[in-house]
Amino acid sequence: MSGVPIKSAREVALMRQACQVAAETLLGVGEMLRPGVTTAQIDRFVREDTARRGARPAQLNYHGFPRSVCTSVNEVVCHGIPGPRVLDRGDIINVDITSVVQGYHGDTSATFYIGEPGPDAKHVTEVARQCLEVGIRQVREGIRIGDIGAAIQRFAESQGCSVVKAFVGHGVGRAFHEAPQVPHYGRPGTLSRLRAGMCITIEPMINLGNYDVEILEDRWTAVTKDRTLSAQFEHTVVVTKNGCEVLTRRSRPLANSEIFPRVFN
Ligand code: MF3
Ligand code: CO
Ligand code: CO
Repeated sequence: MSGVPIKSAREVALMRQACQVAAETLLGVGEMLRPGVTTAQIDRFVREDTARRGARPAQLNYHGFPRSVCTSVNEVVCHGIPGPRVLDRGDIINVDITSVVQGYHGDTSATFYIGEPGPDAKHVTEVARQCLEVGIRQVREGIRIGDIGAAIQRFAESQGCSVVKAFVGHGVGRAFHEAPQVPHYGRPGTLSRLRAGMCITIEPMINLGNYDVEILEDRWTAVTKDRTLSAQFEHTVVVTKNGCEVLTRRSRPLANSEIFPRVFN
């Protein structure tokens, strides 16, 4: 027994609902972003929009996390706490939303551009976006979890970026974080096999410099040790026999992130 929950069709339907709430709220965040907006305003929007949709933000009070969303700017890798910080032209920001519907969690994030990105910001963000796609493309029943990380690491490093090792993707369902862990680095053919009905996140954190991270004094904010830029995208997927369904798939392109309109969101 692997200890990884297999969702029934009924449970996958509830996961789809939770994931679609998170996806729609993330679309709304994209539309409110511009220079001058504070990360506290993003938190307020996420809290209110999540409630309007009849859901609950999983982050609020999760292991003591004090806000409803993680907002991670520039060299912040993840778990940035919303506050008075004002977004400036040229910043990049990852907004990570987890919505709970009838006890099931939907987890998704994206990195957004504030104004026109510089070349480094654009590079790390577009590599991170492609890393998530590369990871999702591996997923089907029978593959090993190491195959996902290996493909992501190979692509990221081919683009001159590094993959954060300190934080991983995860099983998701009745718990925010459940088995299995899903590293975004590793070797093909290693770790356990995926089975149809498993729900996992893939959420590569990609750095322009070294992969090492450091936690700030607030005990949450993770930054790159070398203070280079970091970007991240996250989807929740359910494994199927021949691939996966992206449960947090968006109904339209993200504002302030997708420079070139895409076929698949
Ligand atoms: N949303 C993050 C994830 O993708 C976890 C955030 S935990 C928190 O797994 F406590 F910082 F909110
Ligand atoms: Co998340
Ligand atoms: Co996650």
